[in-house]
Amino acid sequence: MKSNLLLTLFGLTLSVASAANTEDQRPFVGPSPQLAHSGGKLRTNKKRPLKGRFLHITDIHPDPYYKTGATFDSGCHSKPKKGKDKGKGKGKLDEDGDGSDEIEEIILGKEDLAGKWGSGVSDCDTPMSLVNITFDWLKKEWAHEVDFVVWTGDNARHDIDRSLPRTPQEIFKLNRMVVSKMLDTFGTDVPIVPSIGNNDIYPHNVLAAGPSHITEEFLQIWKHFIPSDAAHVFERGAYFSQEVIPDRLAVISLNTLFWYDSNTLVDGCGDHSNDPGALEMDWLEVQLANFRQRGMQVWMTGHVPPHMGHYYDNCYLRYGDLALRYQDTIVGHLFGHMNIDHFFFIDVDELEATSLPKAEFSAFSNVSSLVGPRLHHGSDLAGSGRYRIQGRSGAQSLQAELKKDFGEMPGPRILKMKDYAVMNVAPSVIPTYYPGIRIFTYNITGVAEDRLDEDLFYRGGDAPDDDDDDDLEEDDDDMEIDPTKKRRGGHRHSKPKDDCKLPQNEDKPHCTFKSKPRHFSKHSPSRTNRPLTPLGYSQFYLPTIDKQSSHPPEWEVEYTTFKAKSLVPPSSSHSNDTTLTQPLPVPLHLLPGYDPAIFTPPAEGDNKKAKQKVKDKKKKFKKQLEKITPFRMNDLTIGNYIKLARMLVIEKKMWSKFSEIM
Ligand SMILES: *[C@@H]1O[C@H](CO)[C@@H](O)[C@H](O)[C@H]1NC(C)=O
Ligand SMILES: *[C@@H]1O[C@H](CO)[C@@H](O)[C@H](O)[C@H]1NC(C)=O
Ligand SMILES: *[C@@H]1O[C@H](CO)[C@@H](O)[C@H](O)[C@H]1NC(C)=O
Ligand SMILES: *[C@@H]1O[C@H](CO)[C@@H](O)[C@H](O)[C@H]1NC(C)=O
Repeated sequence: MKSNLLLTLFGLTLSVASAANTEDQRPFVGPSPQLAHSGGKLRTNKKRPLKGRFLHITDIHPDPYYKTGATFDSGCHSKPKKGKDKGKGKGKLDEDGDGSDEIEEIILGKEDLAGKWGSGVSDCDTPMSLVNITFDWLKKEWAHEVDFVVWTGDNARHDIDRSLPRTPQEIFKLNRMVVSKMLDTFGTDVPIVPSIGNNDIYPHNVLAAGPSHITEEFLQIWKHFIPSDAAHVFERGAYFSQEVIPDRLAVISLNTLFWYDSNTLVDGCGDHSNDPGALEMDWLEVQLANFRQRGMQVWMTGHVPPHMGHYYDNCYLRYGDLALRYQDTIVGHLFGHMNIDHFFFIDVDELEATSLPKAEFSAFSNVSSLVGPRLHHGSDLAGSGRYRIQGRSGAQSLQAELKKDFGEMPGPRILKMKDYAVMNVAPSVIPTYYPGIRIFTYNITGVAEDRLDEDLFYRGGDAPDDDDDDDLEEDDDDMEIDPTKKRRGGHRHSKPKDDCKLPQNEDKPHCTFKSKPRHFSKHSPSRTNRPLTPLGYSQFYLPTIDKQSSHPPEWEVEYTTFKAKSLVPPSSSHSNDTTLTQPLPVPLHLLPGYDPAIFTPPAEGDNKKAKQKVKDKKKKFKKQLEKITPFRMNDLTIGNYIKLARMLVIEKKMWSKFSEIM
């Protein structure tokens, strides 16, 4: 596959590159963000008051061929047949009045057949009924409650049914369909930032450098979302950035397919090469430098997470290098693809280990073979329709990896927070497990004001030397770590660093960090709660997806990262959530066990009984809140993620919750 086609495409890239390269500029580096926000189609955020929340939605995978009552073996495309066919539907047979002697060894109950609203924990894609109730709910509950939308790809079904192969036309059509759902749901005033998924192209996974009919098509499909002056770069690379709060906050839509090691049409991120992956990294670095120079913050978003099991090694290294060197500019990293709810770290020592020859870090090659690209579904399972088992064992090896990784983090006194970046991977709408939607909350103190409060805003500046003495234990009532259980180093991290003066070491991360500018500060929003800092997220799911009733299942809070007390108005004030500067993470009525009576001051005439009733409701509500707040994080700064990781390995109960959530 890499042979002729690749050479041709590569030749094309080179000629395009050299054409654009006349002034000795790097070909893929786009216009500076300074210009970008004055661009044509960008919405002007018409004084919508900020809500301090945004939506992350991923892996919708709509399937127009999904049939209620179909077998899982057929990818939920055809109903069980009568007669000799193995997959028999009991209900179907009864209906037909067939004799029971025809029923052989396998009897499929309704729970073994495709559900009306989708099939939880199955291989099947998302029926239109589920797509519809998802967007209906988003429109009703969230369209006016979020400031922008991050949407990380895979808007077509999988290629799991040999009798119904996908076509490029179908894939584009499904993408257009989801775009119209987005526009219908959020209108044109809410910035929406899509990114391309490995199933949004045909054949899946493989995408060559543009311009190509694929990038042209997506430029069309996403014309409402891509700023007009970003079009040129997009045609070549399918990536762009968007200022979701002009001059304050940007979202970068990454094309992770150029870094994805299943993409056989590209060749990683070779240094000083014209690999599309390397050129995207060059572009990204310029974006980050410009946003940083403007005192802005950015969210990095894309489909395939930057994990060494998924990326070409040199792409993984460069991504990690940028994530850490721009720690003070990046508020967070949001990805999809895995359909498994989790987070992981990229850290300096891990980058170091990756840059070693494979033999020198067997611990890592073991891990990456565990989590390898076989975790995603698609090609390997074509025709079988059986993803179920694969997905579960995939999640299990991922759990093993994370447990090991979290368990081996250096102790608080050794660990340097500037060496860490947190990657968030959100669960999918497709019910590989249960359908999921994530709402992030971020600090909007002073963000909406016309005049900046310079003291409040992080504006960059040189890395202070005192950065390393972060105190992980500070200000920490609920997340107390039992000091007797505290552990120290004893990690891969203890390996002595090589001498950067030697030429053979100059490309090692700890050395390149010394030669390239590295921007971090414990005062940046990724490290300290201040304007634009992510405060937490709330995960919604559809646990009753399998119920067959004609009434649609309802979205519920699965869990939130917040403490219970952050979910309700401060008891001292009687203001409701619209009067607070920072709206509540979740509108109260969406919380389990909510009852308006709980927040209404008792009326004069209320008798004892009525008061007792409210008291009982309060108690129940409190219990429910405890259930959905397993992590009790103050905010989503890097330090709190590190703390959470420690807690997860120390507290068995927390780990089992974490693994249940995954
Ligand atoms: C989903 O919604 C679309 C448009 O609103 C409608 O045409 C379609 O029939 C719906 N499909 C299902 C299965 O509910
Ligand atoms: C890696 O895997 C091999 C074989 O599966 C095993 O022998 C070896 O001990 C593992 N190494 C580590 C560090 O876990
Ligand atoms: C937002 O940041 C400000 C300034 O650092 C801080 O005072 C405030 O408590 C933060 N808001 C929330 C809700 O955490
Ligand atoms: C909630 O806030 C709105 C808008 O400020 C106000 O009109 C309403 O009266 C408040 N409700 C209560 C119960 O305080």
